[in-house]
Parts: sequence; structure tokens; C-alpha cells
Amino acid sequence: MRDENWQRLGSFFGGWFVRSDLEHRIIARKLIQQGASPWSHWDEAKIVHWLERFERGEIKRPAPIGKPQIPNLADSYGFPVYLADPFLVPGEPTAACGSYRAVPAGNPSPPGVGIRAIIPGQRLDKSDASIVFVQLAPNGYTEPHEHPGDELVFVIEGELELCFEHTGVRTRLSAGDYIVFYAERLHYGRNPSTKDTLVLVLRFFQFRSPSWRSVIRASRRNEGGQYPEAWRRILNDSEHRIMLEDEITWLVSLDRLGACRIPPETIDAVASQADHRPREVLDRFGLARLLRRVAASEGWKPADLARNAAGVRMPQEFKERLTRDLVADLHHGRPCGIKEDDLDSLAQVYHVSAMLLFDYLFPAERGAIVVRRGELVPMKSSLLPDGVEYGIPPRRLAISDIAAFQLAMPGSGRTHENHHPGTELCVALHGQITVTIEGEKDPIKVQHGQYVHFDSSKRHQVEGKNAEAFVVRFYEADV
Ligand SMILES: [Fe+2]
Ligand SMILES: [Fe+2]
Repeated sequence: MRDENWQRLGSFFGGWFVRSDLEHRIIARKLIQQGASPWSHWDEAKIVHWLERFERGEIKRPAPIGKPQIPNLADSYGFPVYLADPFLVPGEPTAACGSYRAVPAGNPSPPGVGIRAIIPGQRLDKSDASIVFVQLAPNGYTEPHEHPGDELVFVIEGELELCFEHTGVRTRLSAGDYIVFYAERLHYGRNPSTKDTLVLVLRFFQFRSPSWRSVIRASRRNEGGQYPEAWRRILNDSEHRIMLEDEITWLVSLDRLGACRIPPETIDAVASQADHRPREVLDRFGLARLLRRVAASEGWKPADLARNAAGVRMPQEFKERLTRDLVADLHHGRPCGIKEDDLDSLAQVYHVSAMLLFDYLFPAERGAIVVRRGELVPMKSSLLPDGVEYGIPPRRLAISDIAAFQLAMPGSGRTHENHHPGTELCVALHGQITVTIEGEKDPIKVQHGQYVHFDSSKRHQVEGKNAEAFVVRFYEADV
């Protein structure tokens, strides 16, 4: 196994460790009990030291430890070993491609019945998103499992029932529908039909930077008057230091209200919002997170943004409002009545594409959201290049850094060139799309059945003819 894979795997295990209630001593004892070499020959202190170095990515070519011992490690850390599999394939620096048509030899399968996983042969280095295609035979199912972060399941073909073990909530999805949920709840998928099902499973762990829900989890454990590790990491992290108390309070109070439970009405109340297009930003905390992340990636303070605004052509009324104070309010998620018509001006101030901001018009729901194909809201054509259509989901998952939308080019079309923090995934659903990415020698062609996952902080543009794609942005912190 390559050194970078060991480093990546180390940070994956390290992230898991930070999110859990485990202690290294307990993991060391489990490894000794398993009798797995070489740990069974080591004493506890030596294993603890090794684990700490492993999690910091300091282990290089740790012979005689190799792939066969990964199940022992996973078991000792308490997670299903197949979650580590996508981290074991070779990494690419800027863009990684995959397909559900070519199944690499020796692909492991997750536990369950009638299930086959297609783990693509390359991955995007530095990304905490893992991408797997899963085929389920009729009546096939995955074992109930849980893991940190968010999960998005998009149905490519057939039918899927996604079930949450503890709440008993189930929802049935058809081709083109997707669900996004907090994966820290026991969940499993089942094919309720008589035909094969193919789904795209995206897990977004965000191990290297504390995710927002880790604040909630940490607050629960903050009982002995000592800040747990996740809190400390957030408060010491330069990007997260600007997260103000009001947002933390908001998150914690959500948690007290049962934020991590999945309200059944969220799952089934789907149709009513489709024709309702909010006039004002409803997910102001989501917008705040994105704007702060964009500003941080450019090194902009509120005063710089107020200065940017001076150079942008926009309605006078909004220009007068766009002061340093308003920027500070926006970054803290305070209510400031940003209207749909203001979003284009705001996007220009932050030098991002307007379509990044339109998501936040819609409400954020906790626990799990379902978006059905027919519900997507078309984005205003005046903001789009000719021949390009965007379908925006009418709801978002709260406290999450995933954004998804549908891109269609019914004739021939090309998106604006854009860039934004994190990584982006384009899955071709019909036809062929071509993605041009700064730093890649050639444009990348992605046909039906294929995807490209790339570093979206590089300038990029998507082109297509009679094509449709499912696009997901992962707002990762330090890609
Ligand atoms: Fe999962
Ligand atoms: Fe993009």
C-alpha cells in the first residue's frame, strides 16, 4: 500500500477517534485480544504510541502491517471495515473519475444480502467524501449501520427503501430521487422491487476539520467541565474561530429539541413545498457558513467585502445596505432579510456564481431530507447562460456542508466558469458532459454511467449537449 494511503487512512481513523468516546488504551487492548500480528507481540504503551503516530499520518510503509490487518484496526475502532475501502484506492491530486459500468476486480461487498459495491479505482486526494455505487438485487438489503458525517443516496435505477432502524421511519425512492441524512443514526437500504436497483452512495465524513454536528455531539459530552477534543479543535481552528456564540447556542438548542432525531413529517411531507418559492433566504446559517468559507479562502475580512461591493453594479438600495455591518451579520447568520433578487449582487461581491447562493432560499431541515425528481425548482433563466438549466432542491439538510442540484443542457450549453471552496462531483445521467478544470491538461469527458470528482477551488466549466448531470458540492475546509 502506498504511503499516502497510509496517511489518508491514518487521518480517517484519527477522525473517527476524535468523534468517538474511545481511548487509545482500549483500542490497544482490543488489538492485543484479537491476537493480530504485530500488535499481539507489543505491549500496550507501544501500541498506543503507534496509534497516535498512525492517526497523525506519520506511519510510512509500516511493514509488517498491511491491508490484511485493516479489518483488525477497523474492528478495534468500532466501525464496519468496508467504510475504509474507498480510502485504499490510489489518489489523484485534482480530479478523479469513476464509473458504475466497470467493476474493478476484487471489489469487496458491504455486509448484507444481494448487495454488490462498486468502489471506483481512483479517488480524489485530500477529500473526505467517499463515493461508492451499490447494486441491490430484488429484496436485497444492507445491514443496519452508522458512521460519522452525512450520507447522500441517489437512486440511478430502480427503487430503494431507506430505513432508519431506531425511529422506524422508512421512505421509498425512485430513479432520480435522493435522500440526505445524518449518518450517525442506524440506517439501511433495501430493494423493495422485483428489479435490480443501482444507487450512488456518497458519504461525507469531514474528518480533518470538525463538522458542525460535532459541536452538538461534543456539547453533550461536556459534562466534567472540560472541553472535549472536538470543541478544542473548533476553537483553535482559525477558520472556525469566527463561528460566534449565537450559532453555537442555536445548534445546542436544536440538539435539546431533538435535532438528531428524524421527524417522520420531514420524510413524507414532500409535495407541498415544490410550488412555493421563498422570496427571502430561509437557511441563513447555511448561507453564513458558505460565505465565511468563501471569504476565508480568499483571505477577506468584512471590510474587504464592503470594498468589493463598491465595484459591483447592483441596485442602489442594496448597495447602500451592503456595509461592513451587514457583512458581519451575514457571516453570523443573523436575520438580515436577504431577498432572492439580492443574491446575484451578493454572489458578485463574493466572486462566486449566483447558483451557489440560491440553495439557501429554501429551508433547512434536520435529520433527513428527501428530494424527489419532480420537485426540483428551476433557477431563473436570466442568471444562466443560454442552454443551461439548473434544478434546485426545495429543501436542504441543516448543519450540513453538502449541496446538490441537477444540471441539464437540453440542446448545447456551457456553464459559466466558476470556482468555490471544497470539491465537486458531476455524475452524467444522460448524454455526455465535458468538464474543463484549471490545472488538468485535457478536458474530462464524462458519459452516462461515469462521474468526475474534482477540486472545485480550481476554475472549472461544464459543457454538454443533450445531457443531464447530478452535481454535488462538498464544501470541504482545506482542500
Ligand atoms: Fe451508511
Ligand atoms: Fe462548480
